[in-house]
Amino acid sequence: MTKAKRAAIVGGSGYTGGELVRILTNHPYIDLVGVTSRKNKGRSVTKIHPNLRDKSDLSFIHPEELPEEFSNLDLVFTALPHGRSMEFMGDYLTLSDKIVDLSADFRLSEVEEYEKWYGIEHETPDLNDQFVYGLPEIHRSEIEEASYIASPGCTATAAIIPLYPIVSELGEGIVKIVVDSKVGSSAGGATENPGSHHPERTGVVRSYKPTGHRHTAEIEQELGKIVSFSPHGVEMVRGILSTIHVLFENGPGPGEVWKAFRKHYQDEEFVRFVNERKGIYRYPEPKLLNGTNTVEIGFELSKRDDRLVIMSAIDNLVKGAAGQAVQSSNLACGYPEKAGLERIGLHPI
Ligand SMILES: NC(=O)c1ccc[n+]([C@@H]2O[C@H](COP(=O)([O-])OP(=O)(O)OC[C@H]3O[C@@H](n4cnc5c(N)ncnc54)[C@H](OP(=O)(O)O)[C@@H]3O)[C@@H](O)[C@H]2O)c1
Repeated sequence: MTKAKRAAIVGGSGYTGGELVRILTNHPYIDLVGVTSRKNKGRSVTKIHPNLRDKSDLSFIHPEELPEEFSNLDLVFTALPHGRSMEFMGDYLTLSDKIVDLSADFRLSEVEEYEKWYGIEHETPDLNDQFVYGLPEIHRSEIEEASYIASPGCTATAAIIPLYPIVSELGEGIVKIVVDSKVGSSAGGATENPGSHHPERTGVVRSYKPTGHRHTAEIEQELGKIVSFSPHGVEMVRGILSTIHVLFENGPGPGEVWKAFRKHYQDEEFVRFVNERKGIYRYPEPKLLNGTNTVEIGFELSKRDDRLVIMSAIDNLVKGAAGQAVQSSNLACGYPEKAGLERIGLHPI
């Protein structure tokens, strides 16, 4: 079958880039034709992503060769570190009608907010307004019309999706929101640093930016509320588990919480509620979601302190990055939203 759209990935040797290659290699409508890496130019993609042996025959090209090699792309995914995406974005816009950027460079609608949280000047403020925040569960109709999509951060995804219905429907009674996230090491990307060295990383439960984490900016942008967010690095490669404390004054009962969730997510392909009374899997669990584009949500109410505790889990590299980017590009291209994303999780794992 001839696939309808031709796509390239800029930054395809990294962790999110590798997941994009994996998902697009199996995509029914998108043909992955180009993948870039500066350090691995000329090497087979499978040398860096060995899980794709026998599945991909692509070799990395240097990002500067992309315009020479491809003049008629339909989709470009950029999976570069923040700061680098905005530096090169002008060049990519001439390559393709549709761009999905996985970095933080175009996620915040106000350039001043970006500069405040990221501590660097925005190099292409004129392009910023043209990007839509790529969270399909909340911005589906805008994404369907979009040319340029800024895919959300991983911990932001795990906070915004469960909180959005609660803030929208029950927001008036909320006194405070505290998000405590446990995050796998792949969230830090493929480039090593002292904290990722095995003896330093293994076995840790490590506070990482307990105050002032940059993803707070997009969480607050989407929810329109102050949110206290503290992530921790834990002993996982993939996955995020967020425990979200919503403190109320005269808070809701379980029926009202379910009503809010149902109103927003009843028909969502990738939102799965966990509502079991017994057993070890009665709450969301990131390891069951490895490789999937699913977000799991569960909750309990504590009457004693008028608190709703929501648990949410995702795979940071899929629903938190590459899967969500493909979900958005499916919408923008008019394809079924779950095309290429129907993988079921593993158990045991
Ligand atoms: N990891 C996650 O869970 C996650 C989730 C959501 C969003 N994100 C965001 O997605 C982006 C990519 O993350 P990642 O984890 O995949 O990072 P990564 O593993 O460090 O990969 C970065 C990629 O960018 C390329 N690159 C780096 N500097 C470049 C430059 N100056 N010019 C061209 N290419 C360059 C690298 O290849 P070469 O150096 O060989 O060119 C590599 O392919 C980041 O902005 C990150 O914040 C990450």
